[in-house]
Amino acid sequence: MKLYGRNGEKLSDLLISSGCNIIQPCGGRGACGGCAIRASGEIGEASEAEKALIAGKGKSPNEFRLACMCKVYGQVEAILLESDAEALSSSFGKLPEYDGSSSSALGIAVDLGTTTIALQLFDMRNGILLSTQTSLNPQTAYGSDVLSRIAHSDERGPEALCLAVRDEIWKMAEKAISFAKADASRIERLCIAGNTTMLHFLLGLDPHGIGVAPFTAQSLFGESIRADSIFPKLSSAELYLPNCISAYIGADIACGIAAISTERAGKGPWLLIDAGTNGEMALMMDGKITCAATAAGPAFEGAQISMGMIAKKGAVYQAYEENGEILVKTIGGAQALGVCGTGLVSAAKLALETHALEDSGYLKEDPFVLGGSGISLTGRDFRQLQLAKSAIAAGMESLLRISGCEPSELNEMLFAGGFGNFLNPDESARIGLIPKAARLKAKAVGNTSLFGAAMALFSRKARQDIAAIAKTAVEVKLSSNPLFTELYMDHMMFEEF
Ligand code: FES
Repeated sequence: MKLYGRNGEKLSDLLISSGCNIIQPCGGRGACGGCAIRASGEIGEASEAEKALIAGKGKSPNEFRLACMCKVYGQVEAILLESDAEALSSSFGKLPEYDGSSSSALGIAVDLGTTTIALQLFDMRNGILLSTQTSLNPQTAYGSDVLSRIAHSDERGPEALCLAVRDEIWKMAEKAISFAKADASRIERLCIAGNTTMLHFLLGLDPHGIGVAPFTAQSLFGESIRADSIFPKLSSAELYLPNCISAYIGADIACGIAAISTERAGKGPWLLIDAGTNGEMALMMDGKITCAATAAGPAFEGAQISMGMIAKKGAVYQAYEENGEILVKTIGGAQALGVCGTGLVSAAKLALETHALEDSGYLKEDPFVLGGSGISLTGRDFRQLQLAKSAIAAGMESLLRISGCEPSELNEMLFAGGFGNFLNPDESARIGLIPKAARLKAKAVGNTSLFGAAMALFSRKARQDIAAIAKTAVEVKLSSNPLFTELYMDHMMFEEF
């Protein structure tokens, strides 16, 4: 992965902000040598202490650096391999070559989620990731899910939701541009992926038809428009909106499938789960893609949780007991600021083990305090998790059953999005989020929607691939399916399945 830093930022911080979550056993204090990765480019010299730690791990200091001690002063290439660094990489391979003509072009890829927005700024000539920004979708003020936002739009029109999201994306773009000390006039292309409702709001289209039977969208996109029709300062840029599959299976999942397909050709069956607010999933089996969506709510994104937050630096992603004491791990080893979706799953598993939480979802000791971290969770928080995990588990089981695929037959179970980055398969299986039979096949793949959007940003061929996925994918409608309703109730308990 090619990244850009300045002012001697730590490589670990750059990696975390770009969605690559390296594991830092000592919390990034330069004490354990556990964050060794291959890195080259405009980076500071390794100190003798750093070299000694690397050598102590049986690795060559000429080849490796410690991400938490390596300072970056410009372009850097970091190679994250699980075997190298106990690191969890969210990279999907290489981005395609830029097929535009300008030699100084910048490009912006966005994953416009119902709860979270992620944006990346690229130098298009060489594929260097200049900056990553994440933010809460300000539309959450109008409702936490797409249906409540559509209801708001039905009552008062889509304008407020449209402006809110345009403003936020532009603010994020300005931050990224300023971080890279670049100029907005160099932006040549943008690509924004999102679910079908989010793309409607972005363009100011009325999403009413998505909210009522027979659930039809005004547009399924797959088109280029002038960027200045949305962002007035980008007078000469193109904005591409990738194809959605249906009213409830968006461009985010189409891009996600494209992002992971190349490396998995002929290696199915695999199941991709974007455990975001919309809970979209896709099964690739025998060369056929079958998709479904289930309203999971925003718990896995840390929203509507009393001390919840997006999965970024300072978010608790694991809670565990050691010598009778409850301890936590946070992203980037920073002081605990809140709990992300993965931390919520981990805390639920711990609360179940310590009998503070019953399988029924009743929290006997409310709130459940995570040791001395300053973070606690309420009974209502665990109820939100219970609803979200039940929706995802029932959605997955319905999709697999309808497609005639046993969980044990899956080659891979891939979790996308911020939630997936720190996924702990054992903890997820314990609370009943993933089937026990597929536990060893569960794996985090990071923000697949954002990576697919970046592919479409660089290459028209990638756009065609996404369009082909959207055209051939078959949707299974779960909301009206009695099997889903039955399984949803079955999965409400916090127990393994
Ligand atoms: S040395 Fe421990 S995390 Fe970097």
